[in-house]
Amino acid sequence: MNFDRSKKLREKAHRLIPGGAHTYAKGDDQYPEDAPGFIARGAGSHVWDVDGNEFIEYGAGLRSVTLGHGYAPVVEAAARAMREGTNFVRPSPLEVELAERFLAAVPGTEMVKFAKNGSDATTAAVKLARAWTGRDLVAICAEHPFFSTDDWFIGTTPMNAGIPEAITALTVKFHYNDLDSLARLFAAHEGRIACVMMEAATAVEPKAGFLQAVIDLCHVHGAIFILDEMITGFRWHLGGAQAHYGIRPDLCTFGKGIANGFSLSALAGRREIMELGGLRTRADRVFLLSTTHGAETHALAAGLATLHAYQTEDVIGQLARTGEALRAGIGRAAQALGLERSFQVLGHPANLVYATRDQEGNPSQPFRTLFLQETLRRGLLMPSLVVNFSHRDEEVRRTVEGIGAALEVYKKALAEGVERYLVGRPVQPVFRKKA
Ligand SMILES: Cc1ncc(COP(=O)(O)O)c(C=O)c1O
Repeated sequence: MNFDRSKKLREKAHRLIPGGAHTYAKGDDQYPEDAPGFIARGAGSHVWDVDGNEFIEYGAGLRSVTLGHGYAPVVEAAARAMREGTNFVRPSPLEVELAERFLAAVPGTEMVKFAKNGSDATTAAVKLARAWTGRDLVAICAEHPFFSTDDWFIGTTPMNAGIPEAITALTVKFHYNDLDSLARLFAAHEGRIACVMMEAATAVEPKAGFLQAVIDLCHVHGAIFILDEMITGFRWHLGGAQAHYGIRPDLCTFGKGIANGFSLSALAGRREIMELGGLRTRADRVFLLSTTHGAETHALAAGLATLHAYQTEDVIGQLARTGEALRAGIGRAAQALGLERSFQVLGHPANLVYATRDQEGNPSQPFRTLFLQETLRRGLLMPSLVVNFSHRDEEVRRTVEGIGAALEVYKKALAEGVERYLVGRPVQPVFRKKA
């Protein structure tokens, strides 16, 4: 494969854009040196880079493209809305229509406010919880990797330059599936925790009763329970992980998959709390998600068309079946090579990730890089194994075949040393202190 154009464009990009990309997770440090630097176009589950190389892509749009690139009904709905005007001085009826449909799809939510990015929604949820409770502290789950680009979360990561310690000190952490760790947090900060924010599950499933016990503990201590459904929403279930696990959060946040890649997120939840941001409250007003581009018509239209697709096609079932087929096929390929402890597929079938381990069984970035390198060579662009509705049997077959061949190289590298097979430097985690 030839990446000449990508290499040229990369030089320019780093001169013009800090990090060479507008999203860290897409950055050069996340991929091997021999990799497509820029994607020119996509169709369904396939993409083409600027050199014309074709790949089957996983995790499209950082998991936001759940139906597939260029999914016609969504594109047509968005284009229609664009032609009729993207933004007016007063709201569009689309705001009401999508609100009604969204609330019907996510049972237990009573009001919703739309925004552009997931971070806007999670940060707004924190602000609402602080206003509702009159408290400052936010408790987040330590094992959950990301909640917001805003200071209250980024301050807790190693990449915290520019964030005052006073802000960081307001966010405290507990552990997933460890109720005692949350109980200890409430005891240590009695009457000070405004909310608990977490995902229902990542690659690890909740222990029986854990999620409800967290909600009960929040309520005993007068705190708000916020469920971040950015990834689980429209993947685990159309109604989110809350419908899948049968729980009811006070507030919840959606984004990513709700508009098949268009910029749309949502904060939803209990009416009495949400109304603090409205005109029917006697309490002090909360400035809740009010931005110039907040309700652009084409994103709302894309959201409506996406919901329609989920309600008329078995998207959720198909995502799960594709993920299970991948997990089974890759599992067999790894087993045939005796690599089942070195390369593992983990998580919910609609949100599969993989773990790469070295000779000692420790998580390994060099081996992750080698795996990325070898799968890229076989036409697979897979920082994860996160599927969309456009991955079908043929993509699964080609993926399993490609991974099988990539794992043969992986096996040799385990025996002979990864440096022998890896071209260039290994990838690095986004959240680190130094470039
Ligand atoms: C669980 C979770 N919450 C919140 C966010 C933030 O969403 P956005 O990047 O749209 O601001 C992300 C993004 O990766 C996420 O994965």
